[in-house]
Amino acid sequence: MIILGIETSCDETAAAVMDGEGRMLSHAVLSQIAEHVPYGGIVPEIAARAHLAHLDRLVEKAMADAGVDYADLDGVAATAGPGLIGGVLVGLMTGKAIAAVHDIPLIAVNHLEGHALTPRFTDKVAFPYLLLLVSGGHCQLLAVEGVGRYRRLGTTVDDAAGEAFDKVAKMLGLGYPGGPAIERAAREGDAQRFAFPRPMKGKAGCDFSFSGLKTAVRLAAEALPPGPLAEKDVNDLAASFQAALVDSIADRVARAAEMFKNIHPNGTTLVVSGGVAANSALRSTLANTAKRAGLTLVAPPVALCTDNAVMIAWVGVERLKLGLTDSLDVKARPRWPLDPTAPKAGGAGVKA
Ligand code: KG4
Ligand code: ZN
Repeated sequence: MIILGIETSCDETAAAVMDGEGRMLSHAVLSQIAEHVPYGGIVPEIAARAHLAHLDRLVEKAMADAGVDYADLDGVAATAGPGLIGGVLVGLMTGKAIAAVHDIPLIAVNHLEGHALTPRFTDKVAFPYLLLLVSGGHCQLLAVEGVGRYRRLGTTVDDAAGEAFDKVAKMLGLGYPGGPAIERAAREGDAQRFAFPRPMKGKAGCDFSFSGLKTAVRLAAEALPPGPLAEKDVNDLAASFQAALVDSIADRVARAAEMFKNIHPNGTTLVVSGGVAANSALRSTLANTAKRAGLTLVAPPVALCTDNAVMIAWVGVERLKLGLTDSLDVKARPRWPLDPTAPKAGGAGVKA
């Protein structure tokens, strides 16, 4: 089986080819970050235009790098949501066109399912498993029970974790994207200097909240002597913020692990995915959290935790094997929850 995957839901334009065993045959990815940096965040209109300008070339490159021809494809998988709708439309229309012209099945992929099923090809993880999905747009805890079968255990009630990193970085003058910049600054800083709140810690359930923490960082920065922040202050604020955020996430994950174990006593694995999973402080804390809960932590390679087309191609593989394909009139969806029975999440950055 050979599948082409296409990803355009945020600020990464990507195309990848994968085989039925989950071997990555190629991955062409173009980050638009430089185009968004002047604005301090992603501008949807710029993202859509950039996808349009680059996607055809990236698809050609992915096909050439994999050494396959369109006649070799068994299907094309394209992200159909959730995400910035202009970009999603560009990728989905491209996928539809390839499917129509070459008369192959289309798989309209939920981007979140891409993140959710990634450990299935990177680490051959079996169902069911507990998933912490933490990125710029998503912050959820899910029991992953099968292809298309998810139970949402918790979600953010305001910002996504990556969004909190990005906003705090902007506040501290560290630029965009904020996560890597905060992590770098935090390495030089004193995490004990500011006693920031651990949002939701100790509360029932396993929802997240980060806006209070963000405000606490702003107030602490404003309480410092006027003028530009000193490097040491920035580093200490970053370190104290990161410690609070990681602590809060670890508390939520510990509770989710209890819920997961009640539903699936034989479950053995905690997976962390999404861009924030690149954070090494988070990874090492979660390794302990998992251990205490009797679970093993699986963190896919960073390049496959952030947005990519390989995970979209893989969802294509899993779905095509089950005969789950879509018709050419399938619609792009800005919101598309993995667990349709879960109450709608309210956060500004929440797309599902
Ligand atoms: O998964 P991703 O590439 O795109 C979305 O679907 O959102 O995640 C991007 C997010 C950004 O908010 C970025 O600041 C965050 O992941 N991020 C990090 C790190 N690297 C990326 N956050 C914390 N620490 C990092 N090292
Ligand atoms: Zn994503």
